Amino acid sequence: MRLARLWLTDFRSYASADISFAPGLTALLGANGEGKTNVMEAIGYLATLSSFRGAPNDALVRAGASSAVIRAEGEREGRQLLIEAELASTGRGRVQVNKQKLARTRDLLGALRVSVFSPDDLELVKGGPAGRRHYLDDALVARRPAFDSLRSDLEKILKQRNALLKQAGGRLTPDIESTLSVWDAKLIETGEALAHARDELVIELAPALNLAYEQVAGGPVPVTTTYDAPWRERGLAAALEAARRDELRRGVSLVGPHRDDLVLHLDGLPSRTHASQGEQRSLALALRLAAHRVVADATGSSPILLLDDVFSELDPDRSAALLAHLPPGQTVLSSAAGLPPGATPELVLRVSGASVRPE
Ligand SMILES: Nc1ncnc2c1ncn2[C@@H]1O[C@H](COP(=O)(O)OP(=O)(O)OP(=O)(O)O)[C@@H](O)[C@H]1O
Ligand SMILES: [Mg+2]
Repeated sequence: MRLARLWLTDFRSYASADISFAPGLTALLGANGEGKTNVMEAIGYLATLSSFRGAPNDALVRAGASSAVIRAEGEREGRQLLIEAELASTGRGRVQVNKQKLARTRDLLGALRVSVFSPDDLELVKGGPAGRRHYLDDALVARRPAFDSLRSDLEKILKQRNALLKQAGGRLTPDIESTLSVWDAKLIETGEALAHARDELVIELAPALNLAYEQVAGGPVPVTTTYDAPWRERGLAAALEAARRDELRRGVSLVGPHRDDLVLHLDGLPSRTHASQGEQRSLALALRLAAHRVVADATGSSPILLLDDVFSELDPDRSAALLAHLPPGQTVLSSAAGLPPGATPELVLRVSGASVRPE
C-alpha cells in the first residue's frame, strides 16, 4: 500500500495543497502550529473517515469554508487507488474510491490502511483501560474489517441493556427479568467472542511488542502483556448472575468485555504507575509498531505508518534507534524540532504558513 499524492481543499489550515510522498520515509518538518499534524490527519481520515485527534468534522473544515475535500492517489497491490472524500461542516460527507461511490462508509475500511502514532498515545500506557481496549479493537478491525460489526454489536447491546437496567429502577419484575435474559444471552455470545479475539491478539502481539520495544530502547527489556478479564474464569453467564443485584442497584452493566483491560508490565513493573515518562512514550510507540506489524503480516500489505511528533520526549539514542528500525513500507513522520543526527529520509517536506514544499 502506498500513498503517492495528496490534495487538500479547505481542510484545516489548508486552503489548497498538493503534496507528494516518497515510497519510503517522508519527514514533515516545521514549527509548532504550521500544519504538520493536519496533513497526517487528512491521510488518516481517508482510512477511517474520522480524525485520529477525535475532532468532529466541522473542526476539519477550514474556518469560513462550508466543505473540505481530501483526495489521495496511490496504489494498492499493484493497482491504482484514488480516494476522494468530501466533508461538510454539517451533515454527512461523501466518499468515492476509484470514482465509485461507496454504498456504506464501512466499505471503505481496508481501502487504505494506516497505523498512527500520535502524542496522545501516551495515554495508552498512562491512562485508563478504555484506551487500551480501543487499541486492541482497532487492531482487530484493521486486521479483519468484518470485526467492526462485532464491536458495534457489543456497543448496541450494552446500550439497550443499560437502558433496561436503568428502567428497572432496582426492581426485578418478571417483565424486566425476561427482557434482561434476552440481552444477557446476546451479551454473553458477543462478549465472549470479542474477549476471545482480544485475548488471541494479545498473545500474537507479544513477540512484536517485545521486539519493537527493544528496538526503540536499544536493548532488551521484557514487556509482558496480560488480557485482564476477571469474569472469564467462571464465564460471563455466571459472572452476570453474580453481579445481578449490583447491576440492578446501579442501573448499569458491570461485567463484560467493556470493563476489561490490557495490563502492561515493563521489566516486571506495572508501566502505568512505575515507568518513566520516556519509557511510557517508548512503550506507547512500541504498541503502535507491534499492531502495525501484526496487521501487515495478517493482510500481506503494510499500512502507511504515520508517526506524529514522534521524537518528543525520546532521548537522541532512542530517536536514532527508532529511525534505524522503521518497518518496511511507507512512513510519514513529523517533527517540530528537526531530525535526529544521521537521519536520512527520502523526502523532507517543509511545512510553513499552510503550505508544504519539498526541501
Ligand atoms: N478548521 C480550521 N480552520 C483553520 N485553521 C485551522 C483549523 N483547524 C486547525 N487550524 C489551525 O491549524 C494549526 C494547527 O495545525 P497542526 O496541528 O497541524 O500544527 P502542527 O504543525 O502539527 O504543530 P505542533 O508542532 O504544535 O504539533 C493551528 O494554527 C490551527 O489554528
Ligand atoms: Mg502536531
